[in-house]
Amino acid sequence: MLEIQGLTRRFGAVVAVDAVSLAVPAGQMLGIIGRSGAGKSTLLRLVNRLAEPSAGRVLFEGREITRLRGRALREWRRDCAMIFQQFNLVQRLDVLTNVLLGRLGHHRGIGAALAVLFGHFTAAERAMALAALDRFGLVETALQRAGTLSGGQQQRVAICRALLQQPRLILADEPIASLDPRNAQLVMEALRQVNRQEGITVLVNLHHLDTAREYCTRIVAMQAGRVVFDGLPAELTAERVRRIYGITEEEFEAEARARAAPCAAAMA
Ligand SMILES: Nc1ncnc2c1ncn2[C@@H]1O[C@H](COP(=O)(O)OP(=O)(O)OP(=O)(O)O)[C@@H](O)[C@H]1O
Ligand SMILES: [Mg+2]
Repeated sequence: MLEIQGLTRRFGAVVAVDAVSLAVPAGQMLGIIGRSGAGKSTLLRLVNRLAEPSAGRVLFEGREITRLRGRALREWRRDCAMIFQQFNLVQRLDVLTNVLLGRLGHHRGIGAALAVLFGHFTAAERAMALAALDRFGLVETALQRAGTLSGGQQQRVAICRALLQQPRLILADEPIASLDPRNAQLVMEALRQVNRQEGITVLVNLHHLDTAREYCTRIVAMQAGRVVFDGLPAELTAERVRRIYGITEEEFEAEARARAAPCAAAMA
């Protein structure tokens, strides 16, 4: 169980996340929606401690994440894998090595340096990486440079890398915003599969509301840092979206598409 309690993050006068409280049971696939600047990315960054809260706390299975330091913090970051809109693979490295980089958090000191510099991963780790790639139909690409893959393939490689961390939680920040509909579907199916089969809790920021309704078991809507809706996908009707945001669902999505477009164009 992930518990977010009164979590607040201010940037000067801006309250990016404003007294958010959420209890996320293990195994949930939670979709987070909201217009630009609502605080979705900041919320995910607070959970994995890429950002520090101004107030409030985060607990995971009763342990206070917002207090962790040093080794315990590194272990927490290993426990919660991040997936980003731009995939964040090392383009010039091959796919297999990119996936193996997910193991770095499991190596210590000189072991981690050797792993990076000379590819000193164990046979078991290599087998694990190949199995992850095979699962998502990517094993033939293992020796290709990551930069030669399509966006959808790269994002599925990023999911494989996340899996090699053996995380408890996956935090995905607009993972499909740069993808065409078919690739977006493949990536969402991959996330759903790891959520269901491994029972990994997934928190995913999305701007396509039908995608959130189709794949998530719960949806949270944010506005100006606050949670303004928290419920089942079927409860987030078009009328409710209009009441929350003062715009239609079509306008909501057009706005988000325009925001994602420069990045999508750069990917093409
Ligand atoms: N590092 C930062 N420094 C200053 N302000 C920030 C910083 N990060 C976020 N903000 C501000 O906090 C607010 C919330 O930003 P955040 O990126 O979390 O929103 P978002 O919902 O992810 O938006 P988008 O849909 O555009 O990605 C915005 O007003 C943003 O400008
Ligand atoms: Mg964001």
